[in-house]
Amino acid sequence: MQMFGVEVAIAFLRLKEMVVSYFVWNASYDIGVDIIDSQHRRIADYVNDLHHAIEHNDVSEVYSVMDRLKDYTVDHFSFEEQLMARAGYPLLDDHLLIHEKFCEHMELLREQLHGGTDPMNVARKMRTGLMRWLLQHIKEEDQNYASLVRKALRKESSWVSATLKRVFGSVDHHA
Ligand SMILES: [Fe+2]
Repeated sequence: MQMFGVEVAIAFLRLKEMVVSYFVWNASYDIGVDIIDSQHRRIADYVNDLHHAIEHNDVSEVYSVMDRLKDYTVDHFSFEEQLMARAGYPLLDDHLLIHEKFCEHMELLREQLHGGTDPMNVARKMRTGLMRWLLQHIKEEDQNYASLVRKALRKESSWVSATLKRVFGSVDHHA
């Protein structure tokens, strides 16, 4: 009986970890700027790829996803910053600082990954940290610029295409 209780507790903890660790996108996370929303969804997909690699104990996939996830997030920040600047967003400097701090955090994890720390440990930190940070950031700081950027974007389609190409290169940034 006691054994059964322990098994249930373990199964519950495992289920709880899966729920917390897997990024299920919700329409309430959209800020209403399509090109940014699709990039945020892409980051969520990368978090789930990382989750998958952790679940399968796939070390080489962890290294690969960690690199792609960091590169894509840095490119996303760069694009978003240029978009805010183009729209004349008044709180741009504060937003830049927030991105910079998170980039430093990702760089620290990357150094740990390549410096001998258990890759699964680093991957778990990245997965949980990025998921929590992104949700909070989307709902607060990104939401703050949304209406201004939405208005500015109406007449900037060629600038957006050129900037996407320049920032992301050949990466498919919005499908
Ligand atoms: Fe942002």
